[in-house]
Amino acid sequence: MGALTKFWESSVGKKIVMGATGVILVGFVIGHMAGNLQFFMGADRYNAYAKLLKHDIIEITWIVRLTLFVSVILHVMAAYQLTMRNRAARPDDYAMRASQSSTYASMTMRWGGVYLVAFIIYHLGHFTTGTFHPAFSETGTWGNVVIGFKSIPVAGFYLGAMAFLAMHLYHGVWACMRTLGLARPSENPLHRRAALVIAIVVATGFSLLPLSVALGIVR
Ligand code: HEM
Repeated sequence: MGALTKFWESSVGKKIVMGATGVILVGFVIGHMAGNLQFFMGADRYNAYAKLLKHDIIEITWIVRLTLFVSVILHVMAAYQLTMRNRAARPDDYAMRASQSSTYASMTMRWGGVYLVAFIIYHLGHFTTGTFHPAFSETGTWGNVVIGFKSIPVAGFYLGAMAFLAMHLYHGVWACMRTLGLARPSENPLHRRAALVIAIVVATGFSLLPLSVALGIVR
């Protein structure tokens, strides 16, 4: 067995893969959220930013896309296999599930993760390819966002995704700090707080877009 296979087969190896890909994905969502806030600087600014990503630095964009794609696949595979391994270690379910915080966290991570994967697929078809968009324009990203969020169910679906993203980030960032050795194995309130701040800032920043359109503030 090669060293790489051995690493992947171990639980620690899978956790490190989850943590490392998690860092890449968190970096992307922070950057994407910050870029999206240019929505409030007007259509020209926002469209110019979208054009920069889609046309002017297209080679870099493709490297980022590929990195994100591989990261999501590895992140989900490691999560799935760790879940299956944990289940196999305890074939009989508990007679009564205790409502511990750890159970709560892993439930939201699993189901929140499923919601987020569905969200990403919808989101790419919505704003990137335009497949699920009612009036998609290749050059008018600002208009795509405004028209997209005029639909209340769509805005609601995005806000739901941001709530799950916040929970996912809160638990994930903290778990990742422990796995990658930035925090001691014991509770570290400072790292909990750092994870909370990242979760709230990212989810709130994104949510401002669907909220502002759905409430008629931006039209
Ligand atoms: C309210 C929240 C969000 C809004 C308004 C938003 C907006 C957008 C828009 C307008 C585009 C297309 C840009 C273009 O014209 O090329 C885009 C692309 C994308 N978004 Fe989001 N986004 C949101 C949340 C997210 C989240 C949470 C993720 C990941 C978990 C994400 C991942 C992506 C990806 C991977 C792309 C494709 C980038 C590319 O073309 O390579 N977005 N987003």
